[in-house]
Amino acid sequence: MIQIDIATNKQSKISVYPLLDGAVLTTSGEAIKSNNTVTNFLAAGEHQGKFGMVRSVYLNDERALFIGAGEADKLTLHKLRALAAKVAQKLNKNSVEHADIYLSELKVSDVSLADKVQAIAEGLWLGLYTFDTYQTKEKKGKTELQSINIMVDGNVSEAEQALAAAKAIASGTIFARDLGNEPGNVCTPEYLGDQAAALSHPKLKTTIMDKAAIEKAGFTALLAVNQGSNKEPRFIVMEYNGADNDDAPIALVGKGLTFDAGGISIKPAGQMDEMKFDMCGAAAVLGVFKAITEMNLPINLLGVIPSTENLLGGSAYKPGDIITTYKGLTVEVLNTDAEGRIILSDALAYAVEQKPAEIIDFATLTGACVIALGGQATGLISTSDNIKQGLIQSGKHTHDRVWELPMFDEYQEQIDSKIADIKNTGGREAGTITAACFLSRFVDDMPWAHLDIAGTAWNMKGTDISPVGGATGAGVRLMVDYLRHKV
Ligand code: BES
Ligand code: MN
Ligand code: ZN
Repeated sequence: MIQIDIATNKQSKISVYPLLDGAVLTTSGEAIKSNNTVTNFLAAGEHQGKFGMVRSVYLNDERALFIGAGEADKLTLHKLRALAAKVAQKLNKNSVEHADIYLSELKVSDVSLADKVQAIAEGLWLGLYTFDTYQTKEKKGKTELQSINIMVDGNVSEAEQALAAAKAIASGTIFARDLGNEPGNVCTPEYLGDQAAALSHPKLKTTIMDKAAIEKAGFTALLAVNQGSNKEPRFIVMEYNGADNDDAPIALVGKGLTFDAGGISIKPAGQMDEMKFDMCGAAAVLGVFKAITEMNLPINLLGVIPSTENLLGGSAYKPGDIITTYKGLTVEVLNTDAEGRIILSDALAYAVEQKPAEIIDFATLTGACVIALGGQATGLISTSDNIKQGLIQSGKHTHDRVWELPMFDEYQEQIDSKIADIKNTGGREAGTITAACFLSRFVDDMPWAHLDIAGTAWNMKGTDISPVGGATGAGVRLMVDYLRHKV
């Protein structure tokens, strides 16, 4: 991650000024407007402030870069974040090493300087993200940019605090992206466990269960899915006691399928490679832990991650099998590709036993959610109005958005089994909801929310703040914001 600082006075030879629709400048841009070169540049009218457009002019030995910010009254916090990502990429592409940027002068209604600085810094760091570990020749997205100053004229300490928060959030998001982007032959359950164990903080205790420990604990549903794989499963438990008291923690549960071939109900070959991302729920949980430990957030948090591959083999679980879960409920397996809910059932039942205040799970659970919401929103299903409202608020604020789907009682009938307690698929209709119904059988009356990140966790085309494509780190900004409101 490049160096980002808060500054009040000019530091660099390159400055970035926002230009609003109609070629309107903000305070610092206004201050250089009388310079002939700038006057001529603006008079030429080529740059009218169109969102994202960049043009630069040379002023003696300095350079001014004008970034279009679009219509003033249409600015949002996320547009600021996206604009910052554009600026960072542009500077990097042009081999700029140091720059001062004046984006915080843009006014967004009802938004504080701290929020603007946080969004700008997030955009800069996330926009520069690349995953080129495996490109042995020329690295396409090589970062030459070394430092950026976010220029502010107001409260420096407020801005610096926001910058520190942004740094923790970006580093958690980048950690989640890296884990997601690692290929399945590298990011195995064992690797996920090692990565979790490597997160260290005086108030964090991490326990990694290997296969023997999982057998001993009785996580039989996880073991059933693991049968077809010759790699050991892992069950990761993280306890962060940041509040220094016995308050019940918030439990985060993440699906850690390091590769999902579908099992005996094998998936079609097209895009099967993308199923290396089926551990993005786990990555989101780990990213949140990285961020909140870096922030020393005074809250108690429990993390639970079941991890395995879902493959085919002579020992693989089969359609028709009936398995007994950790909780004791029996499951008729109708489709081995609906494996996420199976491994999550043990993790959720375990989380309930730890008596948390609430449980929130993250999972790339259903293709149906991708069809319903695409890449623009995470599916949200919850039994708690409180959690629901908090998540919707945080989703709006961070632009890591969620959208609610209903879980009416009637949907539960779709997963009733004739020969076991429940079956693992509820048919084609309302696939995201019936998957949640399945999970709901394992959380008792605990306040609970399920986040289906199947559509948001990765994006092969790339997005405004995740331009290279691949894992997005969905859920990290959302959850850190949600948790900050619990303080
Ligand atoms: N990991 C997949 C869900 C998924 C599919 C996420 C495509 C993102 C893109 C999950 O394990 C799965 O295969 N779900 C099945 C469930 C079905 C068999 C009831 C699905 O959605 O097709
Ligand atoms: Mn599957
Ligand atoms: Zn899966």
